[in-house]
Amino acid sequence: MWNFDDIKQTAEKDINAVTNEQELESFRIKYLGRKGLMVQIYASLAKATKEEKPLIGKESNILKNKLTQYIEDKKKAFAAVQKTPQQSLDVTIPGVSRPAGFQHILTQTIDEICGLFEGFGFVVEDGPEIETEMNNFEGLNIPADHPARDGFDTFYLNAPDPDHDEWNLLLRSHTSPGQIRIMKEHKPPLAIVIPGRVYRPDAVDASHSFMFHQIEGLLVDTDIKFSDLKGLLTAFCKRLFGEKIKMRFRPHYFPFTEPSAEVDISCYICDGKGCSVCGRNGWLEIMGCGMVHPQVFKAVGYPKGKYTGLAFGLGVERMAMLKYGIGDIRLFYENDKRFLEQF
Ligand code: DAH
Repeated sequence: MWNFDDIKQTAEKDINAVTNEQELESFRIKYLGRKGLMVQIYASLAKATKEEKPLIGKESNILKNKLTQYIEDKKKAFAAVQKTPQQSLDVTIPGVSRPAGFQHILTQTIDEICGLFEGFGFVVEDGPEIETEMNNFEGLNIPADHPARDGFDTFYLNAPDPDHDEWNLLLRSHTSPGQIRIMKEHKPPLAIVIPGRVYRPDAVDASHSFMFHQIEGLLVDTDIKFSDLKGLLTAFCKRLFGEKIKMRFRPHYFPFTEPSAEVDISCYICDGKGCSVCGRNGWLEIMGCGMVHPQVFKAVGYPKGKYTGLAFGLGVERMAMLKYGIGDIRLFYENDKRFLEQF
């Protein structure tokens, strides 16, 4: 006859000693396997007496249920342990890195240039990309029949200018209309730079785009002279391109300045000797400038003869192309990270 109490005690000890799946399997084989204890107990029924049979039957059922329960409980306990974060956390796995963003090369160039002018006491201002014909043309002394409008007649909107019924709004073709806005709102002394997008009816190629960026500058007071213009722009160019460069102011024509000039710097790549960047002539054209035309002061309602001022305008893409040796303007707009990540 079996001592079921002993068997139960041993089984309990055995199951408590089980610490992994392998040991659990050995436990199962020992008690419930094909040659296990349960099978032996059932086999013994054949030889048991009439009185013993029901007892063994009852006790063996209880035992079998207990053993099955032990195994189920252990399985559940193992599964639970695997799920606890402390057990599954591997601190040696490299973390998930989020690549940090960075500023576009054009934004960096705008910030650098505006920063230099802020150092000279200028304030950075903003102007809208949708402009009135008054600000983009008329106020800047570019009347409707003026030939200078040709390269500037950009994208007109089907919306009338609120101040002039017969005129339409348009995408600004330069940042110069910002001059008109600022002067209409503020009295001199004024020292401002206005960065932003401009639009032109230009076919896209390596050096042209229908949209690009400019920075406008304006300094107005009662005694601003052409020497101030030269001094300011010379100091600016030396800070941006290096002390070594030479400057050249070439007479030019802009309707809104008189006199007007284009500014060249000696090529900082070849030191003025001539190379592929400067087209072999040793000079790089970098901006337009001049003394504010009296017609412009008149357009904004400043009293005649009271103020003088200097103005300048430069192309941001051109500056960045010269500074970093970039050969194609389209690279700025394609959003190709292989290009952008270099800066
Ligand atoms: N607005 C001119 C252009 O887009 C650039 C320019 C030239 C601006 C001379 C100025 C200036 O303020 O004085 O070509």
